[in-house]
Amino acid sequence: MQNVLAYLGENEPRFVRELCDYLRFPSVSAQSHHRSEVEAAARWLVDHCQSIGLDAQLRPTDGNPVVVAQTPRPASASSHRRRHFLLYGHYDVQPAEPLDLWKSPPFEPRIEGRSLFARGACDNKGQHFAHLKAVEAYLKTNTELPCDLTFVVEGEEEVGSKSLAPFLRKNRNELRCDATVISDTGIPDLKHPALTYALRGICAMEVKVHGPSRDLHSGICGGSVDNPALALCQLLARLRDKNGRITIPGFYDDVIPLSAYERKQLARIPFNEAAYRKFLGVPKLFGERGYTPQEQRTARPTIEINGLTSGYQGEGSKTIIPAWASAKLTFRLVPNQKPQRIHKVVAKHLKRLCPPTVRITIEGGHGGEPYLVPPTGPLAQAALRSLKSAFGCEPVLLREGGSIPIISDFKKILGVDALMLGLALPDDNPHSPNEKFSLDAFAKGMRMSALLWQELAST
Ligand code: BES
Ligand code: ZN
Repeated sequence: MQNVLAYLGENEPRFVRELCDYLRFPSVSAQSHHRSEVEAAARWLVDHCQSIGLDAQLRPTDGNPVVVAQTPRPASASSHRRRHFLLYGHYDVQPAEPLDLWKSPPFEPRIEGRSLFARGACDNKGQHFAHLKAVEAYLKTNTELPCDLTFVVEGEEEVGSKSLAPFLRKNRNELRCDATVISDTGIPDLKHPALTYALRGICAMEVKVHGPSRDLHSGICGGSVDNPALALCQLLARLRDKNGRITIPGFYDDVIPLSAYERKQLARIPFNEAAYRKFLGVPKLFGERGYTPQEQRTARPTIEINGLTSGYQGEGSKTIIPAWASAKLTFRLVPNQKPQRIHKVVAKHLKRLCPPTVRITIEGGHGGEPYLVPPTGPLAQAALRSLKSAFGCEPVLLREGGSIPIISDFKKILGVDALMLGLALPDDNPHSPNEKFSLDAFAKGMRMSALLWQELAST
C-alpha cells in the first residue's frame, strides 16, 4: 500500500493536468449541439482508461454511450469468490449558461490556489477521476487489487439517465457486484468526510397554459381576455403556502417522518446560518416551518420552479398578451414518495385549479425515486474506516438533497446498495457558474479510494 500511496502523491501534478484535459470537453447532455463533444469526452475516457491498464470499452445505448472499464481479473481462480464493486460516475455535465457570470470560460480549466474551476469539475468528472487515479496507482505499481472493479461512467445523468437502466438490465450478469461506489455527493468541509446514506428523489414536469391563438395587442384586447402568464403565475403561487408547505392534496401522504434520532444526528453537522445566507446571497432564508435548514434541504420534499417562460423577452418593451406561458417544475421527494404518484396528484390538482379562461397541458419529464440505506452494514463501516484514515478525521453520516435516480435502479436491477462517498465542498457551485473542485479533496479522495478497496475486500 505504501507504494500505491506514494505513487498518488508523486504523480498528483500530472493527474491534475489530465483532469484538465478531460474537463475541456463541453460534454453537455442537455444541449443537442454538443452531441459530438459528448461522444468525444466518452472516447477520451475510454482511451485514458486503457492507458492506465484497464480493459475499457465504449458501449452504445439508444442515447449517449456508456464507458465500461474493468480491472484486469487475476488469472489464478482463488477458492473464495473475489468481491466485485461497481464504480459509477457520469461524464456529462450541466449547461454552462449564463456564460457571462463565469470568471473564466467554463471549458478552459483554471487553477486558483487549490481550486480547479471548470464546468464538470466536481459534478462529476473530478470525483470519478479520483477513483480512476487510485486504480491506476495499483496497476502501475504492480500492487495486487484485493477485489475486482468495474467502472460504469454514463453520459446522461444530468438529463435523467434514460438509457442506463435498460443497459443495466441487458448487462446484468457482467455487472453483478457486491455494491456500487459513487462519489457524486458532497461533504460539509475537508475536516468532515462523509458517507451519504440518503438522497432525495425527483419528479419533473412542464406545465403549459394556453390562451389566445396568437399574441394579441394588450391595449386593444387587454381586459377582455385572460393573460396566460398571469394565469400560470396565479396557479403556481397556490401550490405552496407562506409556511413553505406544499398545498397539493395527497402530496405528503407517503412521507416517512424524520425520527428523533435522525434529527439529532443531522443537528451535529456543522452549520452556520448567517454564513449560509451570505453564501447564497439572499436577504433571509426560507423553508418549511418546523424544520432546520439542514432538514429542509435534505430530508423534506420541495417544489421548485426551474424555468418560467412567456411573452416577449427581448430588448425594450412589446405590448402583448402572450399566447402561452410555461413552467418547468421539479419536486424533490423523500422516502417513500413515488414520482409517478406525485405526478398524478400534481396534475390532478393543477387541472382542478385551472380557470376556464385558459387551457392547461402537463407533460411528464424525468423522475427518480428517493433512496435511503441505513449506514450500519459491514460495507458502510468499511467505507467509514477508509474515510477516517484518508482524511484523518471522524466521518459524518449525511442525507443529501440532490438526486441520483439510477441508484434505485442499481438496487432493483442488480440488487445492491450504494456507498456514496462524495468529495464536493459546499462552495463548489455544481450547476452554477464558476463550478470548481478542490484539489485537496481530489488528493484525499484518491487516497480514500486506494484504502477503500482494502477495507471493502476484508469485510
Ligand atoms: N451530483 C448530483 C447529485 C447530488 C448533488 C447529490 C449534491 C447529492 C448532493 C447529480 O449530478 C445531479 O445533479 N443530479 C440531478 C438529477 C436530475 C437531473 C434527475 C439533480 O439532482 O438535479
Ligand atoms: Zn449534477
